[in-house]
Amino acid sequence: MRRIIVTVLVTLLVIAAVLGGLLWWMRGHGFSARAEPAWMEKMMARNARKIATPPDAINLKNPRTTQTAEMISEADEHFVEHCGMCHGADGKGKTLIGQNLYPRTPDMTLPDTQQLSDGEIYYIISNGVRLTGMPAWGSEDKPEAIWDLVALIRRLPKPSPEESKRLESLANPPDEAPKDQTEKPDEKKRGESEQPKPPHKHVHTHQR
Ligand code: HEC
Repeated sequence: MRRIIVTVLVTLLVIAAVLGGLLWWMRGHGFSARAEPAWMEKMMARNARKIATPPDAINLKNPRTTQTAEMISEADEHFVEHCGMCHGADGKGKTLIGQNLYPRTPDMTLPDTQQLSDGEIYYIISNGVRLTGMPAWGSEDKPEAIWDLVALIRRLPKPSPEESKRLESLANPPDEAPKDQTEKPDEKKRGESEQPKPPHKHVHTHQR
């Protein structure tokens, strides 16, 4: 009996210490999304996500093994329209929104994403990821369309030149202003005027 009481007390103390430590850490760091997530936090979040994914979902295989040209071009459009704003047309996540979310949008061409099973990727796209910027698409998109996105994510590390060009021009249609805000202002203005701009005189004040 005494051993049980001691074990319970020690467990409660450990929990109190962990919660106290967490609160202390949060007070010190605030909740700003501007900080770079620490590797330990990233690892814990990733493992928690893995543990929370049902094993049946992890083992699902993509039923659409053959991807026709039509499926590929539809998936490209879908990806740019729904995912590009955060993940970028190339899936590398270097977008204005993606780089300011916490956690940041990952570079999906890298092994961390490519090592996920097809089922895991499908599950993430359908259900989203809690407490992150990743939305759930399962009520919006048909399963076939999501599987075609899984196939697209598999092609991201080495897209065919044709697909890469299509993704790029879908994101930045030649006759429209660029959507992803990656264009350099200098390039846009080139040739429009030879007149150099007057130097910028007013002073910016940034609040911290
Ligand atoms: C509003 C921004 C946003 C949009 C839009 C978005 N995502 Fe995400 N996505 C994220 C963030 C942030 C993560 C990282 C989540 C995490 O760390 O667990 C993520 C993670 C993922 C992952 C897991 C990759 C990995 O290695 O962790 C996949 C797959 C994914 N997104 C696919 C998609 C697809 C496909 C779409 C469009 C149908 C989409 N996302 C739309 C923000 C977004």
